[in-house]
Amino acid sequence: MPGHEVLAAVSSGNGHSATNVIAGPATSDFVVVANRLPVHPADPPSRAWQPSPGGLAPALRGVVTAKDGVWVGWTGEIGPRDAPASYEQIRLRSVHLTQRDYEEFYLGFSNATLWPLYHDAVRTPTFHRDWFHAYRDVNRRFAESAAQVASFGGTVWVHDYQLQMVPKMLRELRPDLKIGFFLHIPFPPQELFLQLPWRHAILDGLLGADLVGFQVPGAASNFSRLARRLSGARGTTSSIEYDDRTVTVGAFPISIDSAHFVERASAPEVIARARQLRADLGDPEVVLLGVDRLDYTKGIDHRIRAVAELFEDGTLHTSKHVMVQVAVPSREEDAHYASERRHLEQIVSEVNGDHALVGQPAIHYLHQSMPMDELVAMYLAADVMVVTPFRDGMNLVAKEYVACRTDLSGALVLSEFAGAAAELKGAYSVNPHDLEGMKEAIRRAISVSPREGRARMLRMRRTVLRHDVHAWASSFLGALGRSAVRPQVTLGPRPALPSAGTASG
Ligand code: F6P
Repeated sequence: MPGHEVLAAVSSGNGHSATNVIAGPATSDFVVVANRLPVHPADPPSRAWQPSPGGLAPALRGVVTAKDGVWVGWTGEIGPRDAPASYEQIRLRSVHLTQRDYEEFYLGFSNATLWPLYHDAVRTPTFHRDWFHAYRDVNRRFAESAAQVASFGGTVWVHDYQLQMVPKMLRELRPDLKIGFFLHIPFPPQELFLQLPWRHAILDGLLGADLVGFQVPGAASNFSRLARRLSGARGTTSSIEYDDRTVTVGAFPISIDSAHFVERASAPEVIARARQLRADLGDPEVVLLGVDRLDYTKGIDHRIRAVAELFEDGTLHTSKHVMVQVAVPSREEDAHYASERRHLEQIVSEVNGDHALVGQPAIHYLHQSMPMDELVAMYLAADVMVVTPFRDGMNLVAKEYVACRTDLSGALVLSEFAGAAAELKGAYSVNPHDLEGMKEAIRRAISVSPREGRARMLRMRRTVLRHDVHAWASSFLGALGRSAVRPQVTLGPRPALPSAGTASG
């Protein structure tokens, strides 16, 4: 190409507007490919573009801006509308999804096959050939889009379980590129992965990358073992010989923009809001907090059961203790998610029926997403953060809570099955399937001495402040730079590619 495009103005819910408009070349040396773009449309009637929630977009925004990169992804809307060509200095390239893609690629293969399979099969994964075909076709469109915007010899960083076939497809289109892949969710042990009827295609897809990164070393060794067993690759956990190339494999635990959380947690208006929240909760002695996407992997129901039993046995009393559970709506068209919501709402209402006083619920349940400052105020208002997923790639909420506890108060109860458990050693570690163990951990967290509490928090804060999202990105990209040994390719005309970003049936 390279061409120039004039980029459209963006209006958003957070006051960003035409000042975000930049113009730039259509190609870049650095391309991020993720299922979601860092913007999505607000609900009708506005449909204005606003920043995407969730861990990935805030985590990568800074890296992409600094490298003047292009972000390839889906807007979250069905149909052919493009996202603006740039947003907050990030150039965007939209991949469109049809209704059928949404059902078969997103809700189907990504979230009803891979998601439960990769999370210890806590719900039975569904296997449908049509869903796999949709996954392959949508992955191809992402690969084609990335191939069109990456400069010669550039770096493309592909993200997450929705796009595992992209590395190989992209390598076939553009052998000149350095390709990295990072999986944000767990990678399952052999016993589970082997169930997947398309296991070879997924592994071969990943092996198209120069560097395949995971959250924890266990996931990396699951992958390398499977690659050797199923794809005929040779080598060790960290270095695999495959298809006359070396694929580097490793653990790169993701983190948060810690400094930004510290800054918001120190803002006077946020501190005042935290005080107000505690007052609104009736100035209890102890506030317990859970913050999760409403997902059956998060163990919210078990956590609430444990808290309910603590109210029953008198450890907790509504006059002194209160729990706040924020459950952010997610994937609501999926039957498992819909039934999980009904299930949770029934449990919360049972607990409140048994233990609430007039004007004082035992559990405050908020099924809504929350602006960042409100979330930070919640973290500041909470004495004990309870994070108990049955399985979680990392869990950034745990790290966010720790980053916000600038005065070293507060305690974290953390599932041993969250990736974050490997780093946050000052937490009270729990097996989320063990109700008695969870109750004991909550008891200990509530009654910890100030001295021990501060020592635990200090230990965790050191880790989170030192190892932030910027350190994560540089460590992945540094390893990618070292691992990618590019073949000799002749400079010549680009291969003809179908135009990317078109919706297909
Ligand atoms: O944890 C994996 C992930 O895809 C995150 O990147 C994202 O924030 C979250 O799950 C929600 O995913 P989505 O709403 O795109 O299905």
